[in-house]
Amino acid sequence: MAEVGNDRSRGWGFDTRAIHAGQDPEPTTGAVTVPVFQTSTFAQEAVGKHSGYEYARTGNPTRTALQTALAALEDAAFGVSFASGLAAEDAILRLLEPGDHIVMGNDAYGGTFRLISKVFGRAGITWSAHDLTDPASLGRDWPNNTKMVWAETPTNPLLTVIDIAAVASVVAQHPEARLVVDNTFATPYLQQPLAHGADIVVHSTTKYIGGHSDVVGGFVATNESDVHDHLTFIQNAVGAVPGPWDCYLTLRGVKTLGVRMDRHCTNAAKLVELLSSHPKVTSVLWPGVATHPGHGAARKQMRDFGGMVSFQTGTRDAAMRVSEGTELFTLAESLGAVESLIEHPGAMTHLSAAGSPLEVPDDLVRLSVGIEDSADLMADLKQALDQL
Ligand SMILES: Cc1ncc(COP(=O)(O)O)c(C=O)c1O
Repeated sequence: MAEVGNDRSRGWGFDTRAIHAGQDPEPTTGAVTVPVFQTSTFAQEAVGKHSGYEYARTGNPTRTALQTALAALEDAAFGVSFASGLAAEDAILRLLEPGDHIVMGNDAYGGTFRLISKVFGRAGITWSAHDLTDPASLGRDWPNNTKMVWAETPTNPLLTVIDIAAVASVVAQHPEARLVVDNTFATPYLQQPLAHGADIVVHSTTKYIGGHSDVVGGFVATNESDVHDHLTFIQNAVGAVPGPWDCYLTLRGVKTLGVRMDRHCTNAAKLVELLSSHPKVTSVLWPGVATHPGHGAARKQMRDFGGMVSFQTGTRDAAMRVSEGTELFTLAESLGAVESLIEHPGAMTHLSAAGSPLEVPDDLVRLSVGIEDSADLMADLKQALDQL
């Protein structure tokens, strides 16, 4: 069944959409929250005569609600949910055919790099990594057969900002190619890539959208009906669908996305102040810093600068020691939840990019700044740095 953005929600502000788009009271019972439709199949009145749902891989009302809400948040006509961010990416990449080329940013989530290079590479898709902060050079060096450009902004873990409109205008010179933007770090609250010319937006909803470290999921938004048809076909034909409980948990997280993001951003700004003045920190990567190379683009396309902060410590050993030296910041992979996390990307989330053009510096530490009291977070990080 079609999973399209809710027309009624189009006039609403972001937080109203987050709470109400696709989430009307359930008509049979009046339940105010969208129920968990924990069923694998749906009764039919007569052969082929049914409520719009036949089998839960093909469609489930809890999933429809999630898809509608997230499409509304991206201001998109269509939204399709998947079992993980990588399953969502996989569905998009299946638009490509053997012999096609994909250009990816030279700074991106390691799992995305692994999927493109090790899975789609084996299926005959060629790839190259490009510095997408220089869109003009992409225009000059446009590789033959490029059908897709894949940008993450801000990037994981280096917080590089890519000017979406500038890259989109280069891609638009090649009507056979599409621009995909991974909006996981910014969320639709801070940035809506379709409005800046992207063709497809992808999320790991595991992160800020779910927001509570309790569910893995992925989502794709687009305004193109042929891309939507492809995605729903893959969703059903391949079957990497989120279960109803996962959809429910994600939808529950979505309701507070805006208020959480505001707090993530203000807490991050305070930690950046601390890091910027600490003698053991050699550089701080956060787009809110006026000297950050992407600060101008971030101001143009983002509402605020996000809750992810990376910093360098000069040596791998120091980065390891800080990562293991905090108490409130939990040493863990993933990001975007209410609790603060710390990690060493080179040895953890981005290990799969080692030795590639996407390898990350080994003295890098990444923070996912949570929504705890900022004073407690600052004290914790300071004590870990002071021990170096
Ligand atoms: C920017 C980004 N995109 C995609 C993914 C993949 O999402 P998932 O882990 O939900 O498959 C991640 C995971 O860390 C990520 O950080």
